[in-house]
Amino acid sequence: MFRGIKRAEGHKMAVSGSANPQEHWSGRAAFILAAVGSAVGLGNLVRFPYVAGETGGGAFVLFYLVCILFIGLPVLCAELMIGRRGGGSAVAAIARLSKSEGKSGIWTIVGWLGMISTFLILTFYSVLAGWVLHFVLLSIGDLAGAIGENGLGAISSPAFEAMSKDDISSQLGELLTQPVRMIIMHGIFIIVTIAIVMRGIKGGIEVAAKVLMPIFFILLLALTVSSLINGDAGAGFAFLFQPDFEKFGAALSDGSILLDAIGQAFFSLSLGSAMMITYGLYLSREDQIPGAARAVAFADTSVALIAGLAIFPIVFAAGLNEAAGFSLLFNSLPLAFHQLPFGGIFAIAFFIMTLFAALTSSIALLEVTVAIADGDVDVDPAKRDRRRVQGAIVIGLIAFGIGVANALSQVSGVETFFNTWHPLDFIPLFEGLVLLDLIDQLTANILLPLGGFLTAIFAGWVVSGSAAREELNFNSERTFKIWRFLCRWVCPLFVGLVLVYAAIIAPMLG
Ligand code: PHE
Repeated sequence: MFRGIKRAEGHKMAVSGSANPQEHWSGRAAFILAAVGSAVGLGNLVRFPYVAGETGGGAFVLFYLVCILFIGLPVLCAELMIGRRGGGSAVAAIARLSKSEGKSGIWTIVGWLGMISTFLILTFYSVLAGWVLHFVLLSIGDLAGAIGENGLGAISSPAFEAMSKDDISSQLGELLTQPVRMIIMHGIFIIVTIAIVMRGIKGGIEVAAKVLMPIFFILLLALTVSSLINGDAGAGFAFLFQPDFEKFGAALSDGSILLDAIGQAFFSLSLGSAMMITYGLYLSREDQIPGAARAVAFADTSVALIAGLAIFPIVFAAGLNEAAGFSLLFNSLPLAFHQLPFGGIFAIAFFIMTLFAALTSSIALLEVTVAIADGDVDVDPAKRDRRRVQGAIVIGLIAFGIGVANALSQVSGVETFFNTWHPLDFIPLFEGLVLLDLIDQLTANILLPLGGFLTAIFAGWVVSGSAAREELNFNSERTFKIWRFLCRWVCPLFVGLVLVYAAIIAPMLG
């Protein structure tokens, strides 16, 4: 791979605004697919419906959209700008950019923080993806069994035909009593992730995104249409798009709904985690950052909303609890497939689609740390390739290890130590949370907003106006000024205040 050679030759030019020397995505479409692939994942399909379900729907969604527009989009532009201009891993890019502006190297903390966040996210993300893999196998096994019994005609019958409704909606519960199976699924998922990241940008990440993402979109649309026809579309729409301001007002008093919306926006767009800085590095100079950012934000938000429309009509039609948390997707959708002709096929398609979306995100999660670990500049390319392979394996395996503890924290029925361990019980915000839930809350609601807060300050105050203007190349000076104002004032103040209030003050007041 020539990424190393090119980087080593010309990294000094990166901050000067001349041609970016790194290996690039093979084109704008490839970059957008990979960035969308990283953004669209369990955050959209599992986390968004679950957070929306728990926080009361419409009001949360409305506020979420505001966050995407005024905070997510400007920070996304900022991260891509830092990545491309800095030319290096997240840490190196920030170091170089700070130096060229004559500012302190302390800002590399944004890169390190991002590395910690993405690594921690990977440790639980791969466990949830393992659940998805389990459901893929379950659906395939069910259809194969039905065909074995009744011949090929069984293809047109609903999924899980032989099971009762109660059995269907307790399949996740069933998995949670089988720690070994959970760990195996989690392990398989991590191994595939490592294998792709090892191959680098063009050979691995880009190919995966190009193949997986189009299939994902087709499946998502097909499923949403079928859910709207077969489920309670009215109730689904009302839940997602009719804000209940009374509920919103009540949730506002402790700021939790604001923090949830900000956290979800950062998680879903993969922001505040140095991830977009890492991918921005590979964006070529001819590509326009604002356009790419808009496309990524639009695709990601649409997928979250469409996923909501695929899930909630079914949840309401089946009379399930919309606030069921992480398990919403796994408990409700199999029931829907149970009511559908060709349900077995739909079930397989849905879980495969979710698995693909999770894979393109976990690749990005691992890539942030591997890019930092694979050595930055002036390293012999062969050595660099070796380091990438070693980095992916070592970091992936450590993530697997911590993931095992995460998986064990979800086990029910048997005592595993981790399922009764509440590591940060003494902090009000994290009271009563087992490891997996704790890491989810800690990363999405604290570390990512903190990373986004610092990134906005870095882009708005440390990077000079002229450098940012040149790199972002907005089509009007006015748009640039709006972007800078949002980065300098709106994002830091708003995210900072919500963080301090909702994470520290309100929980202390009880
Ligand atoms: N955005 C991804 C999702 O929605 C998760 C992610 C977060 C990926 C941060 C990379 C970095 O599933």
